[in-house]
Amino acid sequence: MHSLPTPDPDALKLSEALQQKIRSAIRSEGGSLSFARFMEMALYEPGLGYYSAGLAKFGSEGDFITAPEVSPFFGRCFARQIKQVFDGLDGNKTILEFGAGSGRLACDILRELEALNTLPDTYLILEVSADLRERQQQLIAKELPQLIGKIEWLDQLPEEKISGVILANEVLDALPVERFQITDHQISEQRVAFENDQFHFVSREALEPLKQAVEAIQRPLPDGYVSEINRHLPAWFKGLSDTLGSGVIFCVDYGCSHNDYYHPDRISGTLICHYRHRAHDDPFVYIGLQDISASVNFTAVAEAADQCEFEIEGYTTQAHFLMSCGLVEMLDIEQGKSTDQYLRASQQVKTLTLPGEMGERFKVIALTKEFDEPLMGFETNNLLERL
Ligand SMILES: C[S@@+](CC[C@H](N)C(=O)[O-])C[C@H]1O[C@@H](n2cnc3c(N)ncnc32)[C@H](O)[C@@H]1O
Repeated sequence: MHSLPTPDPDALKLSEALQQKIRSAIRSEGGSLSFARFMEMALYEPGLGYYSAGLAKFGSEGDFITAPEVSPFFGRCFARQIKQVFDGLDGNKTILEFGAGSGRLACDILRELEALNTLPDTYLILEVSADLRERQQQLIAKELPQLIGKIEWLDQLPEEKISGVILANEVLDALPVERFQITDHQISEQRVAFENDQFHFVSREALEPLKQAVEAIQRPLPDGYVSEINRHLPAWFKGLSDTLGSGVIFCVDYGCSHNDYYHPDRISGTLICHYRHRAHDDPFVYIGLQDISASVNFTAVAEAADQCEFEIEGYTTQAHFLMSCGLVEMLDIEQGKSTDQYLRASQQVKTLTLPGEMGERFKVIALTKEFDEPLMGFETNNLLERL
């Protein structure tokens, strides 16, 4: 980890300004901050946080690569699935994308839906980062100027109910989580303090709400066990339930079921940080310049959605989902193109689907409301019983 590349002086200045703000928040909270608040500031502090400042973030110039940045096949497969949902719905159709990153997924979906003659009436993007919103606007204006009028950027969920599809690719892993530890059979909260010129974790007896949430895990967690928990999922799904009148929510992310998430052998939790394509687990390195995320507990996602009257319709691996939506047929069509194009396309399919790449680590969950048709993405493999 100490072989991470050194950021340039301007980036280090940004990081120092953010660290000062975090230190002052620690002081005003009496000496320590919850990890969720630290993560929120590190990622989203206006103008300074990782997602709020103008850093490259995605792609080869950035820190990590997401599926839409790997290949347009990802968005094209999603467009096929969205068409099937639209065909089963009456009235106006809307897509609402959470955290649209560079705007790549929106472009790929809209281009494919245009070719399939199934454009939505409106494409909403809810983005918390002003920098990314600007980047999304530029990309869509350049690639799909004829469709820019269909897109609206939002700061919060729409007030009117929508009918259609809600998408969140790699958004749940970027939501702030709390961190806990088991010591002498007691549950403590791991908070963030600053001493001797360094940020570090300190333990404090967990307050009742966190204690209850950890007790509800009901797994044999050994002494010294550290992990994360996202207690905001119920509120997140309540908002989505108030927004979606009929249709489907698709969340894609790296994660697993509750039993695998809190497996007794997984003693150090699931935090992962990315800086220039190096992955490590220290959230206190280059604060504001590196991404911080935690795996998604899909059982917790399903439970939160269930409490908000969604049906849990499908859960599968990214590989199975994409293949069920026509990925192999799309690759076959590339065979008619140049050898270079075909080789590039084959490599992209491998990255999206191989178990050692994104194929199995990433899962897709589908949550429906007033929508009863079986979804094509889960036709060949539905792992609902694992949740
Ligand atoms: C890892 S990036 C994924 C970007 C994009 N979906 C992709 O796949 O390339 C996480 C995205 O979620 C956004 N985000 C984080 N929290 C959010 C929230 N509460 N509401 C909406 N967007 C959020 C970030 O600003 C960023 O665009």
